Amino acid sequence: MKHPENAVIRRSDYRAPGFLVDRVELCFDLDPLATRVESTLSLRRNGAAGDVTAPLELCGADLTLVSLHLNGEPLPASAWQKSGNGDRIIIAAAVLTAGGEQPRLSIVTSFNPTANLALEGLYVTNGTFCTQCEAEGFRRITYFPDRPDVLSEYQVTIRASRDDFPVLLSNGNLVSERDLGDGRHEAVWHDPHKKPCYLFALVAGKIDRLQDHFMTASGRKVLLEIYSTTANLPRCTWAMACLKAAMRWDEEAYGREYDLDRFMIYAADDFNMGAMENKGLNIFNSRFLLADRDTATDADFQTVDAIVAHEYFHNWSGNRVTCRDWFQLSLKEGFTVFREQQYMATRASPAVMRIDETAFMQSRQFAQDAGPMAHPIRPDEYEAIDNFYTVTVYEKGAEVIRMLHTLLGAEAYRKGTDLYFARHDGTAATCDDFVAAMEEASGIDLAQFKRWYSQAGTPQLQVRDEYDAAQSRYILHVSQTMPPTPGQLDKQPMVIPLAVALLQEGSGVTRERVLNLTEKTQSFAFADVPARPIPSLLRAFSAPVKVAFDYGDAQLAALVEHDNDGVSRWQAVRELFFRAFDKLRGDGGAVAALDHAVAALLADYATDPALIAHMLAFPSHGELADRDAEIDPAAIASTREELLRQLATTHRAAIIERYGHERIALSGKAWSPDVTAVAHRALAGTLLAFVNTAGDTETHALSLAQWQGADNLTDVMNAMTALRDQPCPERDRMYSAFHDQWQHDLSMLNRWFALEAGALRRGATSAVSAVRALLAHERFDSKNPNRVRAVVQAFADQNWEGFHASDGSGYAFIAEQILRFDAQNPSLAARFCDAFSRWYKCVEPARALQGMYLHKLAAHEALSPNVREIIEKTLKAGDTAALR
Ligand code: TRP
Ligand code: ZN
Repeated sequence: MKHPENAVIRRSDYRAPGFLVDRVELCFDLDPLATRVESTLSLRRNGAAGDVTAPLELCGADLTLVSLHLNGEPLPASAWQKSGNGDRIIIAAAVLTAGGEQPRLSIVTSFNPTANLALEGLYVTNGTFCTQCEAEGFRRITYFPDRPDVLSEYQVTIRASRDDFPVLLSNGNLVSERDLGDGRHEAVWHDPHKKPCYLFALVAGKIDRLQDHFMTASGRKVLLEIYSTTANLPRCTWAMACLKAAMRWDEEAYGREYDLDRFMIYAADDFNMGAMENKGLNIFNSRFLLADRDTATDADFQTVDAIVAHEYFHNWSGNRVTCRDWFQLSLKEGFTVFREQQYMATRASPAVMRIDETAFMQSRQFAQDAGPMAHPIRPDEYEAIDNFYTVTVYEKGAEVIRMLHTLLGAEAYRKGTDLYFARHDGTAATCDDFVAAMEEASGIDLAQFKRWYSQAGTPQLQVRDEYDAAQSRYILHVSQTMPPTPGQLDKQPMVIPLAVALLQEGSGVTRERVLNLTEKTQSFAFADVPARPIPSLLRAFSAPVKVAFDYGDAQLAALVEHDNDGVSRWQAVRELFFRAFDKLRGDGGAVAALDHAVAALLADYATDPALIAHMLAFPSHGELADRDAEIDPAAIASTREELLRQLATTHRAAIIERYGHERIALSGKAWSPDVTAVAHRALAGTLLAFVNTAGDTETHALSLAQWQGADNLTDVMNAMTALRDQPCPERDRMYSAFHDQWQHDLSMLNRWFALEAGALRRGATSAVSAVRALLAHERFDSKNPNRVRAVVQAFADQNWEGFHASDGSGYAFIAEQILRFDAQNPSLAARFCDAFSRWYKCVEPARALQGMYLHKLAAHEALSPNVREIIEKTLKAGDTAALR
């Protein structure tokens, strides 16, 4: 079948721009239906480009070009070309510089922000104008060299109706405000720091603000403002407190001060991603900014903290030093995620944070590495850059920076970041630049380490041990391999910091050390080891790798109980769960060590309850499936359910007793978001869900009682989650009351939508017809990405049984939604495609059914480049797998 092909963009094709833009003057006449933008560019030939004849290339998308002037004179149509590749304007160097070496180009464009449902560029949400320019949204505002290596100083004039848009915001400092006399007013903003256009932002609307101040280390007073609706201002105080904590932390940990007089955040209800680090004017998905006790869970409070910090940290790692091209995305994202993780380790239990990070890497990033979209943290090619804002670029990118921190040590690492910021401030840099600064500051050769930037896939370590009792010598033999990924068949050995320790009966954990792996196989000896120890491997998840060691069941149980590293304990109990799962699916037998470990955890009152909660949160369907070469979706679901039911039945009394203990620890105290209270709520929630996997009237009543007595959303959501898959009157009561209470609150009703979309069983109605009914719900809003995700993404991610319904109806549903949303918002739709990433590993008929829908999608002429790239790579991975 013949259909359009996407253009492939390659890292090796990078060319410096022919012209730079020193200064940009933008003048906006805002109108929801027809906005007019006048842009004046002060251009300069780029000395570094090498080719003095290189033209100026301006990108545009969905714009009406009103006029084009060079040095005040209209530019005749013969003086420029439109390129066939997209919407590009090309102007020859000779034309531009005919009137001197400092040409000024003025461009007037117009467009309709209300019709912008892709939410890229300038759009209107709830009557408020707002922008999203990363990665390539600025070209929807005006023709511009829309690439991150063109850095300019911006002066922005905004004109709009005073009644409808009393607040007018852009990056930097406010220069002036005036009334225009005709019902319109004007504000002028100036950003003294040079920036790429993806960091441009504008917000205009009838919005209120919360104000505060921050005194920087050097004694400058910075005005802090969070903009939202008046009604939502009380929900902004937590974000404000987080912002101040993050600003202080960046000064102390990295020596980075804020650099403008004002820092603003706007909360948008319609937003494609989490948040955006626009210079001096961050824009957030309101879901990740607003929080109070009745409308945010403990986990949400933590997420707000992390994202506020993340976007703030970008002011240095991303804005002051930006990326040369989008292949370098991990330069800012991996580094910023790592900075965020370091900060979060000071805000919550470091062990619990590290387990969360490890679980996320293992369930999501390892899956990406094993699927059709596998790519290195610095990709070599892409078709749609939006598709590369991935767990690999972000989270694995952060793991790579963490390994540098481990290999160099904290002190040399800090010297390296100081050097990097000093050397590249105000410029667009590369991942190579970052590593070069680390190398220079530490004197450590990182040539082999750099393979982490170029090789995709998850290294697999095979570890074997040997004990020589006569010589008291213990040896660990380690070998590393890396499976092939699409387009990369042969892999070279990686540098892997493997943190280990020896668990010795009687004396606990000893001999902690970091083994530095560089070869295919290596051996490491420990002298004076009095008895055969149990090795504790990959402590704190010291590298993004998989480790296989042939532990005995009793050894794993010993690690669960006695290791002092949270991640290792958690990993050991998961390993036992995997074993029990395999055994149950195999000969139907049981694994006594898992029961032993669960009993020990339930009776463990010495360990942080949050850690126990994590250890009792068992692997998802996807994680279980990803261990199999051939996936049987129905068997995964039934075995998992049966194992959880058996465990819950065996430990019923102990779970209920421990649950009661956690509730008592919380009772009589005023609600607090402190770590101790959070930990008790978390464990209570995990136990409630656990015991309800073998639910009966007594456990249903326990849930309802928690819900009725709740004075915070965490307890409410945990009670509702515990009964999500249990059709019973208690569930109906909670769910309908929650729906009625919050039907007019966007974020709160999304929680209800997401629970319902994820619910596995509902008597006579199939999960697929239930999710279809949600799309027909009167409050479903197809234009709001959070609401769409609460239904479609929640179904795809959490409803394993519904998605894999044996008649293929779940596949049909997702394929249909991909097409539907691709027509209005490609970056949203592209995220749904991931649901099919395991298709070719499935048994029949799951494989054939998914393949059929993928082929149907690929045959659509009108697919966006975003969806087309993923669908075609997904199909192709199936072909390659068939050939192996
Ligand atoms: N740079 C943003 C971040 O780190 C990510 C982002 C927000 C984004 N909105 C986007 C990326 C839209 C692509 C498209 O956190
Ligand atoms: Zn980021």
